[in-house]
Amino acid sequence: MCLECKRYIKEGDSVSQFDSICEVQSDKASVTITSRYDGIIRKLHYNLDEIAYVGKPLVDIEIDASKGVSPEEDVVETPPMSHEEHTHQEIKGHKTLATPAVRRLAMENNIKLSEVVGTGKDNRILKEDILNYLAKQTGAILPPSPKGEIIPPLPKSETVPAAPKDKARKTPLPVSRPLVFSGKDKTEPITGFHKAMVKTMSAALKIPHFGYCDEIDLTQLVQLREDLKPLAQIRGVKLSFMPFFIKAASLGLLQYPILNASLDESCQNVTYKASHNIGVAMDTEQGLIVPNVKNVQVCSVFEIASELNRLQALGSAGQLGTNDLTGGTFTLSNIGTIGGTYTKPVILPPEVAIGALGKIQILPRFNGKGEVFKAQIMNVSWSADHRIIDGATMARFSNLWKSYLENPASMLLDLK
Ligand code: COA
Repeated sequence: MCLECKRYIKEGDSVSQFDSICEVQSDKASVTITSRYDGIIRKLHYNLDEIAYVGKPLVDIEIDASKGVSPEEDVVETPPMSHEEHTHQEIKGHKTLATPAVRRLAMENNIKLSEVVGTGKDNRILKEDILNYLAKQTGAILPPSPKGEIIPPLPKSETVPAAPKDKARKTPLPVSRPLVFSGKDKTEPITGFHKAMVKTMSAALKIPHFGYCDEIDLTQLVQLREDLKPLAQIRGVKLSFMPFFIKAASLGLLQYPILNASLDESCQNVTYKASHNIGVAMDTEQGLIVPNVKNVQVCSVFEIASELNRLQALGSAGQLGTNDLTGGTFTLSNIGTIGGTYTKPVILPPEVAIGALGKIQILPRFNGKGEVFKAQIMNVSWSADHRIIDGATMARFSNLWKSYLENPASMLLDLK
């Protein structure tokens, strides 16, 4: 197995036990390798971003002989990527709370999150904190930012004119910076999680996708989540909408197990999976990753939220392990946290179905009496493997999922 590596040390550096040596990334996971010894780095066997081979020497460390370590022990080898314990240790020290979008904003502007004071709950760093930090550096006066608006990174040299309060910028601008025109094309290798995306998406091309879309009225769920959020917070968990979407999907899968199945290579057998390991597409600095919440069929909404918090923290820190990233049986992608309404999600083989959620918007709708009311509307787009799933099955599953979310109390009837 090959690993791509990023290093924290150089030849001649002194290291102590547990100091970070480098970060290695396979197409499945990314872990930080720490030193097993106190000593001096004598030789690095790989350059930055080179492919390191499992079991081969990674770095030579000259150790202090007086500490009783034999000379054979002074080579640190590239480990296989199954260091679950290790990845969890690393995350404990990682205290910065910020969403992937905020992290990206910081990265785009070369800001270290550790230098920014977070004003959100539990010192979470908000978009505003990054912008304020940037404004202090540049002397810019920032326009007020309405909730949900995407504000692009600012070049350090640029100042932003103050906008009148009621005329805050309404048109979201792209977060990615345009490429600086240098006159030369640039070619770079596809590495890490992007490599996994190439592999998975190429395999997905073989699947005939069937698409089905609908709109969901989340008015009741939005209120329910508002009520439950503080309770979850007291128990140390951030409750987003995803745990409800995931649990409702699992309840639906109990009725339509063909959507939680896989088809063998020769298309002769279908395996119905006992576990509902529901994957959640995550937008991270390393790229798209899809860790999964295991055995959702036996989890409460709170347990799913707690597990999702763990996966998100590890995902943002680039520390997800192989176990979290493999074994998914069905996927949900909440692209709506970034924007959009309908999409065309691509199935992750060997799974056979995926759902993508659009942004929740307040829109006028009619109630039963024909009166217009303010509804919280979200669109969903499903893709299913049409070799084994017909449109009617997908539509019935979607209707059931929708009914749980539009009337969340109905989930109680089926929760175990
Ligand atoms: N529409 C509008 N707002 C939404 C939303 C939606 N569909 N889903 C969540 N939100 C809100 C949340 O309520 C939260 O607001 P709050 O802090 O005021 O409560 C905010 O967006 C951030 O939510 P987040 O912390 O990201 O949690 P989440 O559980 O909703 O989403 C992820 C978690 C991992 C799904 C999300 O962070 C992510 O990465 N989404 C992108 C997925 C992607 O890239 N898909 C494409 C694959 S090709």
